[in-house]
Amino acid sequence: METPTVKTFRLLPSSDDRFLPFTFVPGQFLNVAFWIGGAKMNRSYSISSSPNEREFVDLTIRREPRGAVSRHIDDLLKVGDLIESGGPVGKFTFTGKEADSIVLLSGGVGITPMMSISRYLTERSWPGDIFFIYSCRTPADFIFADKIPVLQRLNPKLHVTVTMSKPDGTDWKGARGRITKEWLTQLVPDLASRRCHLCGPPAMMDSVKAIFAELGIPSDHLKTETFGAVKPIPAIAGTTAKPTAPATGPLVTFSKNSKSAKVRMDLKVGDSPPRQSILELSEELGIGIEFSCRVGTCGICKVKMTSGDVDMEVQDALDANDKATNIILACQAKPKSDVAVAA
Ligand SMILES: Cc1cc2nc3c(=O)[nH]c(=O)nc-3n(C[C@H](O)[C@H](O)[C@H](O)COP(=O)(O)OP(=O)(O)OC[C@H]3O[C@@H](n4cnc5c(N)ncnc54)[C@H](O)[C@@H]3O)c2cc1C
Ligand code: FES
Repeated sequence: METPTVKTFRLLPSSDDRFLPFTFVPGQFLNVAFWIGGAKMNRSYSISSSPNEREFVDLTIRREPRGAVSRHIDDLLKVGDLIESGGPVGKFTFTGKEADSIVLLSGGVGITPMMSISRYLTERSWPGDIFFIYSCRTPADFIFADKIPVLQRLNPKLHVTVTMSKPDGTDWKGARGRITKEWLTQLVPDLASRRCHLCGPPAMMDSVKAIFAELGIPSDHLKTETFGAVKPIPAIAGTTAKPTAPATGPLVTFSKNSKSAKVRMDLKVGDSPPRQSILELSEELGIGIEFSCRVGTCGICKVKMTSGDVDMEVQDALDANDKATNIILACQAKPKSDVAVAA
């Protein structure tokens, strides 16, 4: 137990091998899959342990009050159960070679990749400054509260600051309130010249991005990882309420299922122009493209585009080889012309 709602799960090799069959870079995540109620559900979880540990990986998972997979893991997983997992994947990584200091800004369960990075750098006696800035609601929500002081004792270059947004009625003596521009620039000298990583709840990430923009720091200076937004409950084929207006967008053909349909242009308020993603259309048709994050990070929804052209706002999960071979992310892909995909 890390907090009343967050637990760390330690995964060991399923074979008799002592060591894991893979290595990873600090900051990467695993895509785990569970069969729940007859449906396969994929979710991504950042590895919170250090890559120096070759015998296990730790995933630190918050139980979401109405979450399908996190509650399944918390309620039903037993020691010794087998887990199906893909990866490790992800580009939200830092090994110490990329810069000579780092600012790790996290909130809530977004602390997990930062923990892996800090553990790794500490074990390597990396000489750079690590500014570890964490925000949570109350002392009870402080994930790794007992493990961070241990790292601090080992690493004098690890500068930890924790701020709590709702510490009233507790004995918290540290910083209070949300992260502000003045507080951040005081805490991190020469903020603009340092490599910064950010992961946390959407509101926290938006406000830190706004601070960086206000300070005139270019947006590509700040590496971010989004853990995904509240997801629409996927439609089940045949039960979806039919849209009132006919679809008028480009035609998408799902060649393996021999199904085609036009994209709806009016699905999302605020899209410019409003257009349905290939994943959303596939859910209406019951195609069964797998997904996890729905924000372009995990790569579970990769599919081959055999003809046509799409826009993809986020392409984090695609590598150069994917792009060269017309692999697209169905959750991000919005058709610009008629499209065919191998799904
Ligand atoms: C790269 C990456 C790394 C990640 N790393 C971590 C990590 O280290 N630790 C971690 O805990 N998570 C992590 N996540 C998030 C994780 O993948 C899951 O999204 C999270 O566990 C929620 O999954 P779930 O199935 O429990 O919730 P889902 O069923 O997917 O629900 C998502 C949200 O919607 C809410 N919800 C569901 N149904 C309803 C409903 N009917 N009405 C209202 N609200 C509803 C849930 O409470 C939840 O907040 C990561 C995500 C990504 C993309
Ligand atoms: S579902 Fe994760 S990249 Fe599309």
